[in-house]
Amino acid sequence: MKILFVCLGNICRSPLAEGILKHKLKLLDLGSSVMVDSCGTSNYHIGDLPDDRTRRNAERNGVILDHRGRQLSIDDLDYFDFILAMDHSNINNILKLTEDLSVQNKVMLMREFDADKGEEVPDPYYGDEDGFQEVFDILDRSIDGFIIHLQSKGLL
Ligand code: 4NP
Repeated sequence: MKILFVCLGNICRSPLAEGILKHKLKLLDLGSSVMVDSCGTSNYHIGDLPDDRTRRNAERNGVILDHRGRQLSIDDLDYFDFILAMDHSNINNILKLTEDLSVQNKVMLMREFDADKGEEVPDPYYGDEDGFQEVFDILDRSIDGFIIHLQSKGLL
């Protein structure tokens, strides 16, 4: 199983989602059966570590982030089984890259799996510190829901 998280910059939301899922899979002893990665639709932060505020907040919650920013490529769309986007703008940017329906069907909004339903994972980049914990909590719940979804489909 190969899972890709996508946001705009790949320094706040998607590397955090990657870190949280890896952390949870490790605790479930499933770390080696799933490939997890993240990327951005933009090229703004290629090679960068996640934003300092994202890393600090993740560490306070027990999650260490060491991802380096990279941009989404067309090859990713074939390679990954699930492509989880943080907001509608990300989805639009991803879907522009392919007309293949079987590929488009892999693309979903992260919060489809949030028990506390919501449309988008808000972008914390231009906000204050509280926004980073809000994003952490949203992703924590959404990823729990996603793990349950995979288990219910027999994919984990
Ligand atoms: P992300 O947040 O998409 O969650 O990584 C952003 C990070 C950087 C920028 C925008 C959003 N930026 O414009 O540099």
